[in-house]
Amino acid sequence: MIPDKVPNENVFHGSMDLKKEAHIPSFEKYKEMYVNSIENPDAFWGAVAKDFFWKTKPTGQFLDYNFDVTKGEIFIKCMEGASTNISYNLLDRNVYEKKLGDKIAFFWEGNEPGDELTVTYRELLKKVCQFANVLKSQGVKKGDRVSIYMPMVVELVVAMLACVRIGAVHSIVFAGFSAGSLCERILDSQCSLLITADGFYRGDKLINLKVIADEALQKCRDKGFPIQRCIMLKHVSSKPVEIVGAHSPPAKRSCPDLQEKQTGKVKKTRPLLQQVPWNPEVDLCWHTLMHGASDECEPEWCESEDPLFILYTSGSTGRPKGVLHTVSGYMLYCAATFKMVFDHQSDDVYWCTADIGWITGHSYITYGPLANGATSVLFEGLPTYPDVSRLWEIVDKYHVTKFYTAPTAIRLLMKFGVEPVQKYKRESLKILGTVGEPINPEAWQWYYNVVGEKRCPIVDTFWQTETGGHVLTPLPAATPMKPGSATFPFFGVIPAILNESGEELEGPSEGYLVFKQPWPGLMRTVYGNHQRFETTYFKKFPGYYVTGDGCRRDEDGYYWITGRIDDMLNVSGHLLSTAEVESALVEHKAVAEAAVVGRPHPVKGESLYCFVTLTNGVTYNQNLEAELKKQVREKIGAIATLDYIQNAPGLPKTRSGKIMRRLLRKIASNEKDLGDISTLADSTVVEQLFQERCSTAM
Ligand code: PRX
Repeated sequence: MIPDKVPNENVFHGSMDLKKEAHIPSFEKYKEMYVNSIENPDAFWGAVAKDFFWKTKPTGQFLDYNFDVTKGEIFIKCMEGASTNISYNLLDRNVYEKKLGDKIAFFWEGNEPGDELTVTYRELLKKVCQFANVLKSQGVKKGDRVSIYMPMVVELVVAMLACVRIGAVHSIVFAGFSAGSLCERILDSQCSLLITADGFYRGDKLINLKVIADEALQKCRDKGFPIQRCIMLKHVSSKPVEIVGAHSPPAKRSCPDLQEKQTGKVKKTRPLLQQVPWNPEVDLCWHTLMHGASDECEPEWCESEDPLFILYTSGSTGRPKGVLHTVSGYMLYCAATFKMVFDHQSDDVYWCTADIGWITGHSYITYGPLANGATSVLFEGLPTYPDVSRLWEIVDKYHVTKFYTAPTAIRLLMKFGVEPVQKYKRESLKILGTVGEPINPEAWQWYYNVVGEKRCPIVDTFWQTETGGHVLTPLPAATPMKPGSATFPFFGVIPAILNESGEELEGPSEGYLVFKQPWPGLMRTVYGNHQRFETTYFKKFPGYYVTGDGCRRDEDGYYWITGRIDDMLNVSGHLLSTAEVESALVEHKAVAEAAVVGRPHPVKGESLYCFVTLTNGVTYNQNLEAELKKQVREKIGAIATLDYIQNAPGLPKTRSGKIMRRLLRKIASNEKDLGDISTLADSTVVEQLFQERCSTAM
């Protein structure tokens, strides 16, 4: 399945320097290891597992699974019988066994240039233990779910690893989500505690996170699920903060000065939050609790298949799915992919620009790098703030060697030309990476030529929240690259391309991307709804995990992701379900029906184009348009920005009443070639929609 030979022409190779020290220095070596990983997974993964600490050893085979719904319940089990603790492996093992206590785990770079902190492995271990003790003192136990809603600060890593230390299950909600989305996620996983911060800056915009968190908690109460505890980190409030709320808080409950941060070099040049809402019945101060907590905490030893975390991803029904990952398999997979895909070396400074609120941040800011004892940059800010050179300034400041970002960021920066990039040297860079969506060859070339100055291979990593880590990816010193292709499978991963009838296609072909067997990092279930897990990923083609992506395999055996083939949109590398946006729209009393499709966008990849049919008697105007945009933002969060709204007196439907989204996509991008429209009930609807397309979308 992996070709014997890869082409030598029209491909890009990693530099010879890289090959000298690389873990996988040639395509032949990759192929040999790949075959071994498939034919002898116990030996392959057993070798990876040797580097970690196991309280008890596995008793059975490495992977046990059923991928075929017709043969019974779907399950995936890895390293049964083994027990471990990930925080022990990421921290204690690095500090005591590998003697990396004084090594920097994170260079934290704040939103504001000049706001910076460093945290060593030893310091991180202490903070994690302290906060683990805090969680225990608040009654959090093994298996309890804890919701985390925080900006990109070191304390976010501390909070997640403190959960891991005591066997609690973290559910991180990206800090750009709305109160409604946070509430929905808290309710779905029945979290007993929320950890948040007062606020943060995104560029020059202050986000009052605690206000949003409070609104979410109120919504939970209204729905009969009162959360008893909310721990708030003080990040951008003035000192001492004025606490406002329904009751005035007893003095001992107030939030003291931010003493901890004063050990780092943090300068606050922006106006600080003057007031923070505070409910003394529920709210607790991070700093007060940490102050009295011991920095020693015995880890809770967890079984391999104990839950590790839940992370919500969009679902095609509109309700997000709680993707559940478990302990041992996820740890090994993150560790192995990080090491080999970024060819990690001990003197690297690695930087992933994603937010920890997404899977990329979970796997490749926290788990993968720390498992490898890496030094990483943790960045709170934006690529465009205070100017469009910020990323390259940081690369030079910390001598970043491996840099991982999203195609949308590359396309955004491309618009400003080469000068902002060339203001900085970027000599330290060795490997570049992308993730989140297909990268168009033009952006790939710019990244390769301008950012990496033709010396750095680009690892175009295809994966999903569900897959836990990279599944199709080049290996930087081994795989000849083709711009826009995620190339070949990672170890243990067997891809296939199926046609509509579920037949496997051989050779050059295009169809559904599926995987034939699990690898350690694949999700185990949808939290609280195993049936939904089976239906979403295993029902369409029994015997395969179905990704929901289309894929092409070329004559050289390279895989090219062609994009989602379900009702999912990928906006700036983040998945949104059309149903989720539609249901937010129809909640407005003026909207009778809504249909949302993606329209290609030069920076975001896809933008949201919405067709709305109004209720009788309502006329469409700019006020209504603004209201609808606001409603969707409030319902889902800032990632759901509606780019175009078109008043649609009628929607194209089949005779049985199904909306023909395929036609709406054509209308949104003004493509007149409609293909087969024999099932369309009323063709005048389409003509009218073409005539009245959004003027801004011409
Ligand atoms: O459509 C694929 C796209 O992002 C989807 C997964 O989104 P999410 O679960 O939010 O995780 C994003 C970060 C891993 C996939 O189904 N996608 C991700 N990476 C790539 C990609 N499409 C093409 N090329 C990629 N490298």
